[in-house]
Amino acid sequence: MRIVTSLFFVLTAIASIAQDSDLPNDFLSKDFHKERRAKLRVNLPANSVAVFFANAVRNRANDVEYVYHQDPDFYYLTGYKEPDALLFCFKDSQRAANGSTYNEILFVQPRHAQREMWTGRRLGEQGTKDVLGFQQAFNNSEFSRYNVDFSKFDKILFFDFKNDVRDNPRDSSDLYDLIIQFKSKVKYSERNAASLAVEPPKNNLDTKELATQMANLRGIKTKEEIELVRKAVSISCIGQIEVMKAIKPGMSEREIQGIHEFVFKKYQAEDLGYPSIVGAGHNGCILHYIDNYKPNVTSKELILMDLGAEFHGYSADITRNIPVNGKFSPEQKLIYELVLKAQEEAMKITKPGTPRQALTDTCRAVVNRGLVELGIIKKDEKHLYFPHGVSHHIGLDVHDRGGPNLEENNTVTIEPGIYIPDNAACDKKWWGIAVRIEDDYLITKNGYEHLSKIAPRTVKEIEDMMKLPSVFDNFELPDLKKVNEKSKSGN
Ligand code: GLY
Ligand code: MN
Ligand code: MN
Repeated sequence: MRIVTSLFFVLTAIASIAQDSDLPNDFLSKDFHKERRAKLRVNLPANSVAVFFANAVRNRANDVEYVYHQDPDFYYLTGYKEPDALLFCFKDSQRAANGSTYNEILFVQPRHAQREMWTGRRLGEQGTKDVLGFQQAFNNSEFSRYNVDFSKFDKILFFDFKNDVRDNPRDSSDLYDLIIQFKSKVKYSERNAASLAVEPPKNNLDTKELATQMANLRGIKTKEEIELVRKAVSISCIGQIEVMKAIKPGMSEREIQGIHEFVFKKYQAEDLGYPSIVGAGHNGCILHYIDNYKPNVTSKELILMDLGAEFHGYSADITRNIPVNGKFSPEQKLIYELVLKAQEEAMKITKPGTPRQALTDTCRAVVNRGLVELGIIKKDEKHLYFPHGVSHHIGLDVHDRGGPNLEENNTVTIEPGIYIPDNAACDKKWWGIAVRIEDDYLITKNGYEHLSKIAPRTVKEIEDMMKLPSVFDNFELPDLKKVNEKSKSGN
C-alpha cells in the first residue's frame, strides 16, 4: 500500500512537471482575473452576490462530446477552463463557520486519477488555489452543504437558466446538480423565472442586471487583453495573406479554409472564434455560410473569407474578398470599392463617443447612394443587399459584451457588405457578387488603431499580394483514388 501510494505521488509529480512545461506562459495572469473580480465587486449593488456557472459539456454523439469551451464571463473572472464549476462574488465579506471571512468562493470539479487519464488534467481545489489564486475553493460536491442564508441578500444576480443542461447520472455534483442545488437554496422556481421576464422582481433574484455589469467590465479591454486580441488579429491577418498568395482555380472552399486554419494552428491559436466562412461567388451571399463545400472554385469568382483565430480565449473577426484569378473584374471592383468607401467613411468617425449605430448609418448611406449610382437599386428603394449592422465588440466572444457607444480601449469591428444573389432584380452582370470588408480596431483616446491593417485591403494591395509566390505552391498530396486502389489491391 505504501509503495502504491508513493508511486502515485511520483506519477502525480511527474504529471504536474509535464503540465507546467507543456503550457504556454502568456495566458491572462491570475492577477488579471483577481482584479476583474475586485472591479465587479465594486460595481455590484449594495448587499448583493453575483453567481456564475461554468458552461455545460455538450454531447456531439454517443460518447463523444463537443470540444469544451468555457463560458466567457466565467473565464474572465476565474481563468478556470474546466466544466462543472460555480463562482460566487459577494459584495460584502461573509463569515465562515470557523470565523474566517471571505468575499468569493469557487466550487470546482475534483481531481480524479482515472477520469483524468481519459479526459485530461484537472486543477482540483488545491490546483485552483495554487494556479488561479483562489483562497476559497472547494470540490463541487461540497456545494450541497454550503449553507449561506441567501434570503439575507437584497439581490442575487445571475444569468437565467436555459434549461439545456444534461445530467451525467454518474456524477452527483455536475453542472446539472449544481443548478438544482442552487435553485433550491435561493428559492428559484420556474414560476419566478416567468414572472421575472415580465414584472419587476418580487424576490431578491435578478437575472437581468449581470449582463450590464459584465458588459461594462468586458467592453473596456485591459493591456493584457489588448495584447491577446492583437495576437489573434495578427494571426488571422497572416491567414488571409497566405491564402491570397496560395489560391488557385480548382481549390475547394474547404482547402482554402484549411490554409487559414493551418496558419492559426501554426501560431498556437487553440480555437476558432466562430465557424470559418469561405464562400465562392454566390455562396458569399449567405452571411454565415459555413458549409464550405464547393469542391472547386472557378477563375472568375470572388471568394468571401470571414475567419477569426481564437488565441488564449480572444477572437479576431476579419473578412477579405479575393478574385480567384488574381484580378478583380470591373463589376467586382466597383462593388468592392463601394464597400471599401463605406468602411473608410465609418472609420472617419471612429472615436470615443460615437454610437456604433452611427457607423452602420454612415455605411448604409454610402452603400445606398452607390447602389443607386450603379443602377442596382432605384432611389430610396428598400433592398436586401446590405442586411446587417457593421460593428460589434470582439474579445472573449466574437460578438463580445460591451456598450453601445465607442469608448477608449474597446476592440470592435467595422464590416460593411453588399451581397447580390443570383436572380436579384438588377442587371445579371452583378449576380453572385458578395463583398464584406471587415476589420478590427482598438479605440484610442482620440480615434482608433487599425489592428488588422496588415491584411491587404485595397484592390491594388490585394492584387499585388496575390502575385507573390506561396509556400503552398509545391504542396502536393497523393491522389486519394490511387491511394485507395493501392490499399484495396493490397500492394
Ligand atoms: N463572423 C461573424 C461576424 O462577422 O460578425
Ligand atoms: Mn463581425
Ligand atoms: Mn466576421
